[in-house]
Amino acid sequence: MMIRARDVVMRLASGGRPLTVLDGVTLEVAAGEVCAITGPSGSGKSTLLGLIAGLDRPTAGSIEVAGVEITGLGEDALARFRRDTLGFVFQSYHLIPTLTAAENVAVPLELAGAPHALARARDLLATVGLADRAHHYPVQLSGGEQQRVAIARAVALRPPLLLADEPTGNLDSATGAQIIALLLALHREHGATLLLVTHDEALAGTAGRVVRLRDGRVLNGAHA
Ligand SMILES: Nc1ncnc2c1ncn2[C@@H]1O[C@H](COP(=O)(O)OP(=O)(O)OP(=O)(O)O)[C@@H](O)[C@H]1O
Ligand SMILES: [Mg+2]
Repeated sequence: MMIRARDVVMRLASGGRPLTVLDGVTLEVAAGEVCAITGPSGSGKSTLLGLIAGLDRPTAGSIEVAGVEITGLGEDALARFRRDTLGFVFQSYHLIPTLTAAENVAVPLELAGAPHALARARDLLATVGLADRAHHYPVQLSGGEQQRVAIARAVALRPPLLLADEPTGNLDSATGAQIIALLLALHREHGATLLLVTHDEALAGTAGRVVRLRDGRVLNGAHA
């Protein structure tokens, strides 16, 4: 099992009041699966993805990713876990504005001490159809191009797990279809497990399983 989340509770203070964002979420995702999470705005999808990525800690519950219980890890171990295990594609791309496309993709490679990071970054950009955009800065790229750079960066270290939060959310349907094809190709070629948050029916339809969240609870599809 790639992901085993059990009875995950997330409570946050919202304007001074406690708010239960996740209310006992249990979710399993098998290695090699393509799984989509859908649900209304505010149902807790991004929060859940962030917890699985170790970007935040749950109030209660356990989260095992690739056999590691991550809820008890310290900051250094969490950083290593993120580097070694997962790629994260954010809805709003999160590219570094002062770096070119190639330099953005090279960041995780350099952090991991990989040789020839910039050359490999250019190869990765070519695989997402951006060979001729390597020297462009994020502001010089369209939304779909920035999203492809973000995907190239997320898969640079060939993570066994790719998490994507609304990867087609800001894109028109044709560009969205390109991104979907790209994510699925990466899944096929590297056998990576994909966990995607999406409102996009076309994207959800390509997943092997759709998990529905509402009010911080899983309505159906919790088990692999
Ligand atoms: N840092 C925070 N502090 C307080 N409340 C938060 C915080 N982050 C999220 N929330 C609240 O938690 C709930 C779930 O948020 P989350 O972003 O996980 O929803 P979502 O399902 O991803 O929604 P969307 O589809 O709009 O992206 C929302 O009601 C949100 O306002
Ligand atoms: Mg969200």
